Amino acid sequence: MRTNKNSRYTWLWLLLIAGSPLAVAQKFSGLANTPQMGWNSWNKFGCNVSEQLIRETADAMVSSGMKEAGYQYVNIDDCWHGERDARGFIQANAERFPSGMKALADYVHARGLKLGIYSDAGWKTCGGRPGSRGHEYQDALTYAQWGVDYLKYDWCEANALKAEGAYLTMREALRAAGRPVLFSLCEWGDNKPWEWARDVGHSWRTTGDIYPCFDCIEDHGTWKSWGVLQILDKQEGLRQYAGPDHWNDMDMLEVGNGMSANEDRAHFSIWVMMTSPLITGNDLRSMSKETAAILTNKAVIAVSQDRAGVQALRQSRQDGVEYWFKPLEHGDWAMMVLNRNAEPRSVSFDWNHESVTDDVSGAKTEFPSVRYELRNLWTGRPAGNTTRALRATVPGHDVLLLRLSPTHSTAAAARRPPRE
Ligand code: GLA
Repeated sequence: MRTNKNSRYTWLWLLLIAGSPLAVAQKFSGLANTPQMGWNSWNKFGCNVSEQLIRETADAMVSSGMKEAGYQYVNIDDCWHGERDARGFIQANAERFPSGMKALADYVHARGLKLGIYSDAGWKTCGGRPGSRGHEYQDALTYAQWGVDYLKYDWCEANALKAEGAYLTMREALRAAGRPVLFSLCEWGDNKPWEWARDVGHSWRTTGDIYPCFDCIEDHGTWKSWGVLQILDKQEGLRQYAGPDHWNDMDMLEVGNGMSANEDRAHFSIWVMMTSPLITGNDLRSMSKETAAILTNKAVIAVSQDRAGVQALRQSRQDGVEYWFKPLEHGDWAMMVLNRNAEPRSVSFDWNHESVTDDVSGAKTEFPSVRYELRNLWTGRPAGNTTRALRATVPGHDVLLLRLSPTHSTAAAARRPPRE
């Protein structure tokens, strides 16, 4: 048999390339099979970060019950940086982090938590600190040596770059450094990351920055920040791109940062329903009982962390009231009735005349043929079943959040073929 010489060499080359560090790597898969949960310094503290704040936050994450509820990452956002040394390696700001990042990572790890850090694909971060441009491999190596577990990677001063390439470079650098790092893309949705970032990172921001207001836009001149409802509305058309290990990121939470309790509850419910990462942005050391109760409600968090990993769909809307559904494992559904109005609204939903079909996951509700038991996830109380129409009053800027569980005996009976 004659072998084609050229094809023999092609195979040899392919083998060599595949085994070499030049081969295209992959993201560290499986780090965010459900949306990541943690805390980040930016929303509350801006550039005012220090090792003391991070240590106290790690302690508070444990003592407040946040860790127990599933929060894991303690993330330092912008402004931790000092200068680069003569060889180009980045240093932490020595005044703010006198013990160094390695010691800080050890402290966080000792509490069973993980440490996150922030950088930027461009020359400078949004806060004017050194960016990673041209130093990607060095920075990834440094983070790995420090023991960093999470990288949020921003998009300031990146005008000359193409987003996909820039984020791929950092993905490769992280991979080469060898320490599993959750890679959180933050380019604000400018370059449609949902179309290309599934294999690049674990989540991508879909919008500009949030700020603690339920229904407002803040105009800074060259950029705007967005309220909760504005961010929700920007998710239109994106749900098909989200799933286990690759999430649409609606930005960090503002729960506990000045909105009313109703608004905080609605904000948290929306992020949960939309499978956005749950990265809190308040001061964990001094949060009120009310804030802690919202952030640690396990039944609500279970909707976010459901293994099916499907982002909610809006079934209908009327008079500023929206009906959202999220298919969950084992035939369950979460339902959110969102009242966008400032005033309360009476709502009714007749299961006998409604149905939900999710084109993305293929899930379908089975009312009226199957009875679902209802549980109100914020009060923790049973809320009847789907044999009788739902009637409720939803306060202004608030939600009704229910879990629907099929009564399996009825479901099985409904599906059982007729006897011969
Ligand atoms: C950008 C990001 C924010 C925050 C700041 C830090 O605006 O979108 O989330 O990281 O930079 O400067």
